Amino acid sequence: MKKVALITGASNGMGFEAAKLFAEKGYSVVAGARRVEKIPVDNNILAFKLDVSEVASNEAFVQFALQKFGRIDVLINNAGYGEFGPTEEISYANALYQFKVNYFAAVNLAQLVLPTMRKQKSGRIVNISSTGGNGYVPLGAHYHASKAALQQWSDVLDTEVKQFGIRSVIVQPGGTQSAWSEIAMKNVKDNLKPDSPYEKLVDGIGNLLGNINLSATSKDLAEVFYQAATDARPKFRYYYSLSDRMMVWVTRNHPRITRFGMNQFVKSVLKK
Ligand SMILES: NC(=O)c1ccc[n+]([C@@H]2O[C@H](COP(=O)([O-])OP(=O)(O)OC[C@H]3O[C@@H](n4cnc5c(N)ncnc54)[C@H](OP(=O)(O)O)[C@@H]3O)[C@@H](O)[C@H]2O)c1
Repeated sequence: MKKVALITGASNGMGFEAAKLFAEKGYSVVAGARRVEKIPVDNNILAFKLDVSEVASNEAFVQFALQKFGRIDVLINNAGYGEFGPTEEISYANALYQFKVNYFAAVNLAQLVLPTMRKQKSGRIVNISSTGGNGYVPLGAHYHASKAALQQWSDVLDTEVKQFGIRSVIVQPGGTQSAWSEIAMKNVKDNLKPDSPYEKLVDGIGNLLGNINLSATSKDLAEVFYQAATDARPKFRYYYSLSDRMMVWVTRNHPRITRFGMNQFVKSVLKK
């Protein structure tokens, strides 16, 4: 029997490439995104118009998969974006929306697939965090907080569902070629109030995000998603590169060094 993978955020970037890769590897893929017309077309991919911030949409997505295939082997919680901007100026509504998409959608979808995975006595939930689930930059408060929350939640979930043959795992991509930074930069500008005192910082972060080393492609990350979904003994964390792994190690084990680095960065930006 073919295995079934549900992938969110499949209209672009890593989710798009993951849908193609899982289909190539013989999975039946149910791929969701709001821009359903951008989801890759393939005999093994069923595209579903999904808005992960809506409970009814998540319910319909999982229901659709179960009606078509009657089982769910893998859920990849990949849909996400960066609600960047000065913490003082990001509206409460936008802060909540960031958590809805990056965190509560994963919680909602996991609750919807778990009864089926428990009956099957197997299943894998792959949660796409970021190296920014540990590290951080100014103007990324809600993004980093949502990814840190996703990691803590995934770790707790794993302790609860392992007894049923189900695992919840984390992938932490670093800078990767996709639409992510463009969307994050647009959000910085949209969240900025007129005559904002944070304009210099915004320019500095713009330069930083614009110059991030994007050596990884979305295709590379799709391979990492596949490994996280299929390793017989899943790892604690999945990374694409050694530098991503090192970045997380330093930020996790040396928070003062991380803070020092960020303070130096802010100082240099404000001096200009
Ligand atoms: N690229 C990076 O440098 C990087 C680094 C670390 C972590 N990440 C994480 O990796 C994941 C994938 O991002 P990416 O780089 O591939 O970015 P991307 O190219 O912007 O793709 C994001 C995907 O998420 C979907 N999405 C956003 N909001 C959604 C919603 N409300 N409902 C359903 N789908 C939604 C988008 O589809 P629609 O707009 O069509 O709905 C799109 O398919 C994200 O969780 C991101 O935070 C990215």
